[in-house]
Amino acid sequence: MRIDIITVLPELLESPFSHSIIKRAQEKKHVEIFVHNLRDYATNKHKTVDDYAFSGDAGMVMMIEPIDRAISTLKAERNYDEIIYTSPDGVKYNQQEANKLATFENIIVLCGHYKGIDQRVRDHLITKEISIGDYVLTGGELAAAVIVDSIVRLIPGAISDETSALTDSFQDNLLAPPVYTRPAEYKGWEVPDILLSGNFKKIEQWKEEQSLERTRRLRPDLLDE
Ligand code: ADE
Repeated sequence: MRIDIITVLPELLESPFSHSIIKRAQEKKHVEIFVHNLRDYATNKHKTVDDYAFSGDAGMVMMIEPIDRAISTLKAERNYDEIIYTSPDGVKYNQQEANKLATFENIIVLCGHYKGIDQRVRDHLITKEISIGDYVLTGGELAAAVIVDSIVRLIPGAISDETSALTDSFQDNLLAPPVYTRPAEYKGWEVPDILLSGNFKKIEQWKEEQSLERTRRLRPDLLDE
């Protein structure tokens, strides 16, 4: 898979993809991640990528021209399955969407910024608008990092224990059961006896019950879906 991210703040995206699973997935060539500076596609010498809103509203708006040039340059090289724009007014992101995106060959993620983006970009160039939650970030970069992270860990081979991505919270609309490690007792706080019993059938049953109980208590909305 190939992921191209277009941003005015490429520095913000250096660290999130340089560690742990995401780093190894790139080293093992399961995924290629390219971060493009939108300013490189600006046409004037000041590298301007935003301008005043025609409506007279306060706040700068991202211009269509550099964005169109950046996307067209990438599209001239290969086909893209999805061109995503990160914005608080996009469709709310979830695990099902991550699963779907992880099956694609090539995607572009355009990070939103400033007050917004020229609507013509959204109307003509973007194929999907994603919000990572009902709150407003200063820009779309952290949202892009969240989306890319959630996709890459699903690509076959990215996680060494392939089953572990399938047992994540949300994969079956249930929260994951609690996990424990040694010591079996710490400051009088004990690991549930069942986990020390060695009875794997009973342990599986306990995990299912815990998942259901946690979901009912913390995220009852998931059970309605
Ligand atoms: N940009 C600003 N806030 C955002 C959000 N909640 N999701 C995606 N992109 C954003």
